[in-house]
Amino acid sequence: MENLKIAVVGLGYVGLPVAVAFGHKHPVIGFDVNERRIETLREGFDYTNEVTTEELEKTHIDFTADPTKLKEAGFIIISVPTPIDEHNQPDLTPLLKASEMVGKNMKKGAVVVYESTVYPGTTEEKCIPALEKFSGLEGGKEFFVGYSPERINPGDKKHTFTKIKKVVSGQNEAVLDFVATVYGSVVEAGVFKATSIRVAEAAKVIENTQRDVNIALMNEIALICDRLEIDTCDVLETAGTKWNFLKFYPGLVGGHCIGVDPYYLTHKAQAVGHYPEVILAGRRINDGIGRYIARTLVKKMIQKNMPVQGGKVTVLGLTFKEDVPDLRNSKVVDVIRELQEYGIDVQVHDSCCESQEAERQYGLALTPKEELAPAHAVILAVAHTEYKEAGWKQFDKLLLDEQGIVFDIKSTLDKKAKPEKIELWRL
Ligand SMILES: NC(=O)c1ccc[n+]([C@@H]2O[C@H](COP(=O)([O-])OP(=O)(O)OC[C@H]3O[C@@H](n4cnc5c(N)ncnc54)[C@H](O)[C@@H]3O)[C@@H](O)[C@H]2O)c1
Repeated sequence: MENLKIAVVGLGYVGLPVAVAFGHKHPVIGFDVNERRIETLREGFDYTNEVTTEELEKTHIDFTADPTKLKEAGFIIISVPTPIDEHNQPDLTPLLKASEMVGKNMKKGAVVVYESTVYPGTTEEKCIPALEKFSGLEGGKEFFVGYSPERINPGDKKHTFTKIKKVVSGQNEAVLDFVATVYGSVVEAGVFKATSIRVAEAAKVIENTQRDVNIALMNEIALICDRLEIDTCDVLETAGTKWNFLKFYPGLVGGHCIGVDPYYLTHKAQAVGHYPEVILAGRRINDGIGRYIARTLVKKMIQKNMPVQGGKVTVLGLTFKEDVPDLRNSKVVDVIRELQEYGIDVQVHDSCCESQEAERQYGLALTPKEELAPAHAVILAVAHTEYKEAGWKQFDKLLLDEQGIVFDIKSTLDKKAKPEKIELWRL
């Protein structure tokens, strides 16, 4: 068992922490198609900020972009992206490309475990046939397959890979036991054996769908409270005193999990003849929040006789959540685009992400903090620690004449300490 060589295919937010955890107990091959990623990891630098240089130095992972190395592995974990396309349909291209490459390079008897989030049925209907086609081997006889969904939460230093219960599944009892033993050797929180691969796939996708729908409900409540001119946070704090009131909050639902995974489920649901109403309604509400925030700000600027054409708005935070550098599917971009359509001059600051990435992904030039011009309004879009700690004081410089409008999307600022000259709006 200690000599079992483990390969991790796809070293992103998910794959790298998995490789590092196994690296303490097993010989590990870390494979990625992105050669720059491999080079930087060899130099001890993880640009996702999930693993520190010291942690990387302590493990002995053989980082490589050479797929033939996978022949050495007895256990291959696949953690490549599973995005959606412009029609909100699953894009399985990376998953199938990875399966093809693994198929071409795996040895007889290898166990392949998928960790990517997929709709129920993907592993058996799409991945196993691809592995069989490109390996010339028979699944379940000459190689074996399992599925173990990943639950890590980027930026969260408490719920890390080894501290979260790991769901495992396999194509038969023996594979299930083996997969459970391998993960059990590093996951301190223990493993849970799902009754089938499809059950494990469905469980993962509904975990995120449940969050998405709950947040959508809070967003809808926020839209109602806004019209009623009552503060959503106050309402939620009050309702939250009941023992069984669930603690969810309104907000922008970005990133590549919560806002994406429900579409995997709805795709499969429709393929089997059910049109999902609640899940898609939730998606529509969450996807519309960015535009709602922008339009509310424009109304407020007009009410205050501020110019819209040529008006200036500063946006603090662009990443999809607090204290992570990940810009994928950032819904702050929806707010910015909508404001720009009204002719507003928007300047964006975010010190958690790389400026080139904002330029590359969205064509947005970030402004360093000291170069931000005073604006009519500031949107505190992402609750980075830096903005939380700076509190109300930061608006002295950010607002024109120290007055104007502040939109506190995540309700990070202390409402009671608000300076009189500032108008505060929160979701
Ligand atoms: N990030 C999260 O919070 C999270 C949490 C749970 C589950 N997931 C799921 O895990 C999967 C991976 O997500 P991620 O956030 O780590 O993605 P990521 O984009 O951070 O990393 C994916 C890595 O895979 C590499 N890659 C792409 N195609 C490849 C191929 N054919 N062969 C080898 N490498 C390839 C990319 O270069 C990249 O380094 C997705 O299915 C995602 O939904 C993500």
